[in-house]
Amino acid sequence: MMVRSAHSRADSWQEDETLDFLREMNEMTLSITIDTLMRTELSQDARDQVLRATPAVLQGLLTEVMYPTWMPKWVPLPGHRTFHRGSRELRDVFQHVIASYRATDGGEGDDIFSLMCRANDEETNYRMDDEQVKDEAVSFPLASTETTASALAWACYRLAKDPVLQQRVRDEAFAVLGDRDVEMADFNQLTFTDQVISEALRLYAPAWVVMRRAIVDTHLGPYHVPKGTEIIFAPTAMHRDPDLYKDPLNFNPDRWHNVRPSALKEAYLPFGAGRRKCIGDGFARFEMTTAITTFVRKLHLELAEDANVETKLFANLQPRGLKMRVRALVPA
Ligand code: HEM
Repeated sequence: MMVRSAHSRADSWQEDETLDFLREMNEMTLSITIDTLMRTELSQDARDQVLRATPAVLQGLLTEVMYPTWMPKWVPLPGHRTFHRGSRELRDVFQHVIASYRATDGGEGDDIFSLMCRANDEETNYRMDDEQVKDEAVSFPLASTETTASALAWACYRLAKDPVLQQRVRDEAFAVLGDRDVEMADFNQLTFTDQVISEALRLYAPAWVVMRRAIVDTHLGPYHVPKGTEIIFAPTAMHRDPDLYKDPLNFNPDRWHNVRPSALKEAYLPFGAGRRKCIGDGFARFEMTTAITTFVRKLHLELAEDANVETKLFANLQPRGLKMRVRALVPA
């Protein structure tokens, strides 16, 4: 399904077209998420609703999260109304999906909705009710779509900026895969592609802030942190700290040669850490690997002449103004 999405996205691009590359990646990752979440025969209407509501919710997410608790809810902050309208729409559409799955005894597929509707704790016989399934389901498009799309767009931006780098990724993809599609088993052999992904997630960590609440009185370095304190920290800033990374602003995938990101522990946190760590890290890395190896074996990625890429702090750290052009790869 990922491979199919990457192929059809790349095949839809014309040589003389200027692509809004972030948008292309957002649409591709959202459609992969929907296919993973729900049976694909789900009605086109429901798909369209999720496609429409997810960006609306994400647009207001940052404001909602930062909204001071003392501020009345009627204060018209940007994105507030779209956030609530979008999240209502997502919950409504998921309610319909759940009802149709329940009607068929929880669905029989291996998509996430089916698995959640069927999930049954063997010891307690506990099953999730509709509200719980909905709560879990809503977090999926929000957590998985724009994060992966931003990281992918940044990685492709660096490949487009540096044809030598792009050729190294292409050479590896042809050497490992030839003309066939990537599979899970190839992952360990696509080492340089993986280094590019690690470096994109370092320099452009999509989740640029992560939050925690202290559940007990504690200390953080020299600071006393009373129970209940909300703490926001920025992986993006840590990932650019010269004490942790040599020449941190330089995009250098070779820094990951023979270095596993997990060995850096808390110095590398694109997916957070601890109990609330991202559950989709492997999925996201594979999705990025699939897209990159598919694109570079079909196309040359190039920046459009008038591309003016800026970092935008949105719900995720995004490359705005990423106008790209593609050129079909002429077989050697
Ligand atoms: C490059 C892509 C991604 C990045 C950078 C990313 C990053 C993160 C971060 C930083 C967190 C919060 C972790 C914490 O608080 O310690 C998180 C949570 C989460 N992510 Fe991801 N994520 C990505 C892709 C995905 C994908 C593809 C999925 C689903 C397939 C996903 C599902 C989730 C879920 C469900 C949570 C909430 C976990 C919880 O609260 O227990 N993410 N992600």
